[in-house]
Amino acid sequence: MYFLWRHEILVMIGALLLFCQGSVWADGDDLKAQAVAKHNACLGCHAGDKKIVGPSFQDIAKKYAGNPNAKVFLKNKILKGGSGSWGVVPMPANAKMNDADLSILTLWILRGAPTSH
Ligand code: HEC
Repeated sequence: MYFLWRHEILVMIGALLLFCQGSVWADGDDLKAQAVAKHNACLGCHAGDKKIVGPSFQDIAKKYAGNPNAKVFLKNKILKGGSGSWGVVPMPANAKMNDADLSILTLWILRGAPTSH
């Protein structure tokens, strides 16, 4: 009985650790995000530090710094596209992107889209 109890605690701690790791930006995620951006042709319109067709990722990070809704808002915006935040030029929708890719891109952009670390 005592052994089982201890075992359960260990499993819980393990699960908690796994959960924490999943929510922290891990080594290599910058590169992964960069690859996702490339793969989805984001970089044709966006660069880290200069405006192309869309605003630079660093400008986007600045604009939304400290905004608690930014993550949800931008994730949705990347998925659905639209205009109005930066001007009248619309951003195309990316309806085929999966949730994990949308999340990693959003977090990366909010960090200013570093290309290495
Ligand atoms: C055809 C050009 C184009 C492509 C491709 C493109 N974007 Fe954009 N993006 C824009 C434009 C234009 C805006 C400004 C929209 C606005 O003013 O609301 C924008 C805005 C954004 C914003 C800020 C949104 C806001 O409301 O502040 C993010 C984040 C973003 N793009 C991410 C991405 C990602 C990630 C991809 C690739 C999956 C991508 N973009 C592909 C043109 C593009």
